[in-house]
Amino acid sequence: MADTRKRVAVLISGRGSNLGALIDAAAASDFPAEITLVISNVPDAAGLDRARQNGISSFVIDHRQYETKAAFEDEIDARLREAAIDLICLAGFMRILSTEFVEAWRDRLLNIHPSLLPMFPGLDTHARALAAGVKEHGASVHFVRAETDQGPVVAQSKVPILADDTPDMLAARVLDAEHRLYPIALKLVAGGKARMVGERVMIDDSEASGGVTAGATAP
Ligand code: GRF
Repeated sequence: MADTRKRVAVLISGRGSNLGALIDAAAASDFPAEITLVISNVPDAAGLDRARQNGISSFVIDHRQYETKAAFEDEIDARLREAAIDLICLAGFMRILSTEFVEAWRDRLLNIHPSLLPMFPGLDTHARALAAGVKEHGASVHFVRAETDQGPVVAQSKVPILADDTPDMLAARVLDAEHRLYPIALKLVAGGKARMVGERVMIDDSEASGGVTAGATAP
């Protein structure tokens, strides 16, 4: 039988724990995606080891080796097309992608962000959530748009903020939630259960569980 699983590339810059969660989830025989390619812009990113251990082809495309952002992104794009990639997951990829790249992969490009978007886009989300005094925090998986950390949300996971939390304690709780959230969101998108209606994501068959809220359930 032909393999109908979507071919996914994961773009990383560091630790790669979300990459690991996606690799683990994709090992299940009913998961509708396979992690086919890993690209890091950082040569010694720890996540590259995880890719190698799992026999996934990986490339370093170091932005510092390219004169322009366009040349850097052209190289990424060429690798993605060469590998016949269907979907891209950004997982701690610390370069801001151009509008051209984002539009070329529109609705095929996901990102995970450690906050309940649209709250706290950008960096230091955990410290900012504590400083703001909000009672809940969490993570979001969204389709990428040209504006950083914006775009239609596929799924979100909430975590409580506890009285004695430090940014590190909160970050650890959110990261744990991220590791459950990203596979659920990718499964929805790769399995064709997440539909764009305008700029909203509708979920045809929500698998939301364990504190994960996935898009809006279709009527
Ligand atoms: C995660 O917190 C993710 O939400 C953010 O960057 C971090 C990456 O962590 N975009 P890892 O490399 O997946 O461990």
